[in-house]
Amino acid sequence: MATSTHAPAGRLANKVAIVTGASSGLGRAIAPAYIREGAKVGCADLQLKARPQIEAEAVATTLELLQKEGGKDRAIFCKTDVSEGEDVRADVRPIRYVLQRNTPTKSQKPLLMNT
Ligand SMILES: NC(=O)c1ccc[n+]([C@@H]2O[C@H](COP(=O)([O-])OP(=O)(O)OC[C@H]3O[C@@H](n4cnc5c(N)ncnc54)[C@H](O)[C@@H]3O)[C@@H](O)[C@H]2O)c1
Repeated sequence: MATSTHAPAGRLANKVAIVTGASSGLGRAIAPAYIREGAKVGCADLQLKARPQIEAEAVATTLELLQKEGGKDRAIFCKTDVSEGEDVRADVRPIRYVLQRNTPTKSQKPLLMNT
């Protein structure tokens, strides 16, 4: 993973957000907004690719959009079924581990969960 050379600014700087259903629709709109506000974003969805019905969403995956805007070290995708508690618990841990590595805090608190 590439490491960006400057610290992000914005209302969500140094926070890790998990956006559920991030590959399409509302989640796909929310995730880039969080990146622009400085968050590191974990995308949790059943599938990496967007739903096929919307042509505009087929151009790029949400992860690709986020990496273009925020750099490769600020976004990650995790295949997750958010209706399954075990899936969520299993996926939150690596999302936090990967994205919080470069977050200058030892606190586990700066985590946003968007559903
Ligand atoms: N679109 C609206 O105007 C609107 C308004 C209010 C509420 N909602 C609700 O918000 C939710 C999202 O709406 P949308 O329009 O973005 O839908 P969408 O179909 O465009 O996107 C939903 C995304 O969630 C993913 N997903 C579905 N089930 C999942 C699961 N169990 N685990 C992980 N990912 C899963 C899908 O793969 C898809 O990428 C829906 O529950 C919808 O009812 C939508």
